[in-house]
Order: sequence, then structure tokens, then C-alpha cells
Amino acid sequence: MSAEPHSAASGSGVPRFKPAAMRRYLRDGDKLRAVLLSLYGADPGFDAWFDNLMADVAALQRERVAELLRLDAHRAGRPEWVSAPDVIVYAGYADRLAHGLADIDRRLDGLHRLGVRVLHLLPFLTMRADENDGGFAVSDYGRVEPHLGTNADLNRLASGLRLRGISLMADMVLNHVADTHPWATAARAGDPDKLGYFHWLDSAEEVIACESHLAQVFPEQAPGNFTFVAEQQRWVWTTFYPYQWDLNFANPAVFREIVLAMLRLANMGIEIFRIDAASYIWKDLGTDCKDRPHAHTVLRALRLITDIAVPAVALLAEAITGKAEIERYFGDTRQSPECSLAYEPCLMAALWMSLAQGDARVVRAVMHATARRPRGSAWINYVRCHDDILWDVLRPDLAQAGVDFDSAVRAAAGTLHGTIPGGFGHGVSSQGETRPLHGTSGMTASLSGMAPEQSDADFAVALRRFTLLYAVVYLVPGLPLIHSGDEIGQCNADIDLAACECDTRWLHRPVLDDAEYARALAGEGRSAAVFAVLHHLGRLRQALLITERDFLPFRQLDGLPTGVLGLVRGGLAALCNFSPAPVTLEWPADALEAVGRCHDDTPLTLPGYGLAFLTADTVAAAHLSRLPDAQVCTAVSP
Ligand code: GLC
Repeated sequence: MSAEPHSAASGSGVPRFKPAAMRRYLRDGDKLRAVLLSLYGADPGFDAWFDNLMADVAALQRERVAELLRLDAHRAGRPEWVSAPDVIVYAGYADRLAHGLADIDRRLDGLHRLGVRVLHLLPFLTMRADENDGGFAVSDYGRVEPHLGTNADLNRLASGLRLRGISLMADMVLNHVADTHPWATAARAGDPDKLGYFHWLDSAEEVIACESHLAQVFPEQAPGNFTFVAEQQRWVWTTFYPYQWDLNFANPAVFREIVLAMLRLANMGIEIFRIDAASYIWKDLGTDCKDRPHAHTVLRALRLITDIAVPAVALLAEAITGKAEIERYFGDTRQSPECSLAYEPCLMAALWMSLAQGDARVVRAVMHATARRPRGSAWINYVRCHDDILWDVLRPDLAQAGVDFDSAVRAAAGTLHGTIPGGFGHGVSSQGETRPLHGTSGMTASLSGMAPEQSDADFAVALRRFTLLYAVVYLVPGLPLIHSGDEIGQCNADIDLAACECDTRWLHRPVLDDAEYARALAGEGRSAAVFAVLHHLGRLRQALLITERDFLPFRQLDGLPTGVLGLVRGGLAALCNFSPAPVTLEWPADALEAVGRCHDDTPLTLPGYGLAFLTADTVAAAHLSRLPDAQVCTAVSP
């Protein structure tokens, strides 16, 4: 470390940003330098490293095309662009919702009708040729996976979407690379520089000692966190699959490579980076190596760099852990923000648990007031995604509520897997039926009880369950996410899990059914009934936004039966019955007060899994009344 005080902004190597970025660098460069100093300051070459990094960042900033520079100018200092309440996110694989990047256009009509403003395409960079964890084993950050398209296709897609008001989101898989990535192959061959890109343990004893502190992500399919590398006669850290080698962020060279890879992708038009597996990026031996303080320091540095060089870009944290821990990924204060967005996996798990239990108390508990967050940050709320429902995230909330975790999860999983009497779902246990406490796989439709040849009556009940969960996700603060296939109520993929020991997550990553998709858009059949739910919920958000700037305040209603969740959002109150049995109740007085007095204040009866709404907004009411079996009361002023 240099003994001389050194200012980023006044140092000899002032980077050559374009003028607007230079102003941002002059404002935040010292802060960035201080953050990086806390990570890498022990390195005697820190000053030169920092100057070189900034020179490279500036060179990439200068390469930004006019369209992106305009976006930078528009969004700089306005982080709230990404958390605007009318933003709806849609996530899917480029080769499952279409035939690659050049073919995504075929979905634009559907996305438009759903009100989608952010499209998350799951990994599309060059991936390991063999097994690759759905592309989360990247072998080249600079090139689109050939079977999905070219870099030119990516540029065209991002720019075409932008013209239609849709931002393209991509995964920044930075915790690990594929074992076929040139860094890994060089390390395997003994390149001393590249060996330092990874974490190595020399003996079986060290592995055992280290494992004793660590959890396992895939206990059945990929037990353990280390993989023996014969060429090196030692073990490399592999949190996920053995072919995904964890990068060593304590090495400044790794940080630099990732920053530059990210900025090159930003220059191809990516507007949001989903920071994959954020919890794992920093290891402190002797700890559980999850959510470490320096994982946050790395993110703070990435945020400062993007804010300086590419402020049109936002970061999303993928940290699947307890809610209090996830909140820290937003950053502590306005002065040190990290990610603008974070997934809310606890709400997803709680929704399913409450649905399975017929009792709203778990979902109520998870929706407790959240901490103050930096301006422009928001949760991404979802019913399903490409990963499992991981039950563990509910541990803190269940413990606080005095509920026994094991028996609650066992019962919920049994109901959602249809393995106990009264079970309605068609899910499976994600790490084998002997580990029901780990996670659940399955599409929203299947977990809700939809099945291809079922009766109209059974479909109607399953559709009410589906609608109930999505309605909550659209009403709570944050951005709703639609998992590809959900918009047409697509059921689990037709794969034989028994025959192949495959990753059960492929069950809920089906190829979008084109025929059903066409029927849904044409307004025909059951898929159209499902599509209408998400269409009207999307329109509802827009309708409320027109009259309710900010879509606030939000709170829960008290004093309701245990099966019912009550919410007030701006000028809308909602009652959501998680119980399969009908419930008769009255609108709580504070809902009437918040929204206006109802025409008809006689008791109302919600059917099992039914919804009731109270609003003075006639457009919102029109959309709500299109939800299956929903009761809508248009409030009037007293
Ligand atoms: C994230 C992804 C998941 C992947 C893992 C490893 O959790 O969502 O699909 O397996 O990271 O990259």
C-alpha cells in the first residue's frame, strides 16, 4: 500500500472519462478508492492497480454508444427508474420462451399485454458444453452462447426492447466460472497467476474442517463444497456443482476481470445485472462463508463503478437467505447503496406455506415492516422462479412465531407434492423425497393443483389458488415478477425424474407451449383464463398509479380470521382467503376508513381461496372484477 495520501480524483493517472462521467468520477472516485482500499489495500501495488482499473473503466465508458450515453444522462442520480411501481418483470430462458435471442420478438405482444417493463433472460453467455446448470457455468463472459445467437443479436435485442420501453436484464454470474473457462483450465494446468483466481485447500483434513462450517446447496446432486482436481492434487472450492469453480474475490485481479466483463455487457445494452449467488462471493475461513461483510463491500464497489461509468445500469441481488440478511444487500444508507433490487424469496416460500396450511399467519409474519432502504430500491416479489422454493429462508420467521420448522415444512411440502391426504399440488421434493425439508420444485400451475385433463370444477379451484398468490405479489410493495409459462398456466415439464437423476428444477423450466400461448392470446380456453389474471393485475397496477402517485401507503389489516390476509395499498383494500373453506366477515373499519365507505356493508362471504376488494377507483375496480370469483366493492365517500 502506498504511504502517501492519494486521491483518486487528483492522482497522476486521472482516467479519461467522457465529461459527464468525469464529473461523476470527480464526485465519487475518492469514495470508490476508499472502498477498494478496504478490500485490497494490503497489496503493495494497490495504487497502480487502482489507476489501471480506472483507466480501463474509462476506456469502456468512452465506448458507450450514443443511445446508451443518453440513457446514462437520463438516469444518473435517478436510481428510482428501476423501482417505479409500474415496472413488471418477466423471466425466462431464451431457448425455452423462444428459439434464441433473435426470436424473442415473437413474445413482444404477450409481454406488452402483461405490462412487462423488464425482461430477464436467464444465462445466455457461452456456457460449458456439457452439463452447465442452465448456463450458470459460464466459459466466456464476452460472447453470447452460439446456440442462442450472437453478440450482434444481443445488441439488437437490447436496443429493440428499449424502444418498446423494456429493459433487458442479464445474469452476472460472478461467484464462479465453468471449469472449462480459460481461467480454470489455466489454473488446472498450474498457471500461477490463474491459480490465484480460485480458492484451494491442500488436504482432506482442511476440507473436512471447512465443510463443518458450510451448508450445502445441492446436498443430493452435488454434495460438499470442494472438488478434487487431480492435476493439482488439491481441492478447489465449488459451492454449487463440481464444474462451477468459485472465484476468489480477495484477489484484485478477479475483481478487475469481473468489472470489465460487466461493463462490456453493459455496452451491449444490458440495463440490469442480476448478481447471481451474491451471498457466496466472499469467503472467511472458519465461518459459514455466506453474506460476509466483504461480500457487501464488493457490491458497494460495483455500485460505485456502475454509478460513475454506466448509470443507466442497475444491480439486483440474488441472495436467498433470511429477509433481514437480504435487506442488507440494498446497502445501509443513501451514502453507501449496493443493489437497487433484491429478490424476496421469503414471501414466495411463505405464500406457498400459507396456501398449503390454509392459514395466512406465516405470510402475514413475513410481510413485517421492512427497514429503511436507500432511495430507488425495491423488492422483486414472485410466486415462482427458475429455482426451487427453498424452505430454509423461513426459519427465522417460523422461529419467531414459535412454529416448529420441520413439521410445518413437512406438512406444507406434503400438500404441495400431493403426497398426504388433502394434498392438492403436483410438486416434488427438490433434493429427493428423503429430504422434503430442503425445497420444492414445480410450476405455479402444478403446485396450485392445475393438471391437464382435470374437471372444470377442479380447474376453477386451482385457478383461485393461482390468482390468490399472484394477487398478493402484485399488491405488496415491490416489483412483481412473472415466471415464464405462468402467464398461460403451464404445468410441470414432462420429464421423467425417476429415469434420470436430473436436477428437479427442470420440472419448472418447461419450453413455453406455443399452441397454448397462441390460444391464450386469442382469448381461448383455460390458458386464456390464466393469462387474463396476470393481464388484469398488471392493468390494475397501472390504473392505481394514475390516481395514487407512489402507490402508497401499504399496510396489513388487523383483526381478521387466521385464514385471511388483509392489505391496504393506496386507495385499495384487499382480503385474501388462504383457507380452502368459505369465510364470512365484514370489512374492518380501518379498511373502510382508508378507502372510503362501502355501498354495501353487510357481511361478505369469501369462497375458499377467494379475494375481495374495496376501492373507489372505477378503472381498478373494472380490472379486479375480471379476476375469477373476486368480489369487488366500489367504495363511495360517506
Ligand atoms: C443462482 C441461480 C441458480 C444457480 C446458482 C448457481 O442461485 O439462480 O439457478 O444454480 O445461482 O449459479
